[in-house]
Amino acid sequence: MKIGIIGAGSIGSTIARRLSRRGHDVKIANSRGPETIDAAALSTGADPVTAADAAHDVDVLIVSVPMNRNSDIAAHVKAAPEGALVIDTSNYYPVRDGAMQAFDDGQPESVWLSELFGRPVAKAWNAITSQSLDDKATEPGDPHRVAIPVAADDDAHRALAMSLVEETGFDAVDAGVLADSWRQQPGSPVYCTDRTREDMPHWLAAAEKERVPQRRDLVMTCIGDYIEAGGTVDGRFFVAINRACYS
Ligand SMILES: NC(=O)c1ccc[n+]([C@@H]2O[C@H](COP(=O)([O-])OP(=O)(O)OC[C@H]3O[C@@H](n4cnc5c(N)ncnc54)[C@H](OP(=O)(O)O)[C@@H]3O)[C@@H](O)[C@H]2O)c1
Repeated sequence: MKIGIIGAGSIGSTIARRLSRRGHDVKIANSRGPETIDAAALSTGADPVTAADAAHDVDVLIVSVPMNRNSDIAAHVKAAPEGALVIDTSNYYPVRDGAMQAFDDGQPESVWLSELFGRPVAKAWNAITSQSLDDKATEPGDPHRVAIPVAADDDAHRALAMSLVEETGFDAVDAGVLADSWRQQPGSPVYCTDRTREDMPHWLAAAEKERVPQRRDLVMTCIGDYIEAGGTVDGRFFVAINRACYS
């Protein structure tokens, strides 16, 4: 499969490594140019390209940039082939992205993105830390295999995104349509909590819409205080603090 990735940070580059290792024809872009892409992202065969090239002649386009940068790449995404599936890994953090009214008003993040891009999107890999994505890939059948929720309006789009998630080393869980994808946003019980496939349906159903952004901000406040006191936060800490909010 021909796969383009816009965003060569911790998530985009890990996905690039995994999917090119599986034999996919992967190309990856950042904002500063192909020559600046970290060699690790290319270590299993992905090609460094410009953002415009990443969207050209692909079956799947994965967008993995900070939420407030998606407007900058919208023209590239709109130029992707009509039949290409766009997969969104983004999350909204007001402390990083600045206030974005639609999200503060409760619009699910991937619904907004779908409107911005003028095309359907699937939401995947947003609810796992880059550290877990990097460290915790296992083969199907492992009872402790970490699961990743996948949402999309079109069943075929969701199935394709789920198959790619599986190829990156994680169980994919059907999380329904984009209108319900707030259930996997930051602050939800499945967000960066490394649930298993067995547990995830319970935790998707347990999400409460009003509380999701409150928990997101609570976690960020705790982390800010912890760092101010000299603490160091890594992916394991982030999973632990998110889990603590729901156990
Ligand atoms: N980190 C995590 O654990 C994690 C987990 C799940 C989901 N996410 C979400 O996934 C997205 C990416 O996260 P990340 O941690 O990988 O981010 P990151 O490490 O900050 O990397 C962001 C990437 O986006 C690129 N980018 C920004 N603006 C661009 C533009 N206009 N055109 C092309 N590329 C552009 C950056 O390129 P330059 O460096 O050249 O600007 C960089 O390669 C975010 O929305 C994040 O919330 C993150």
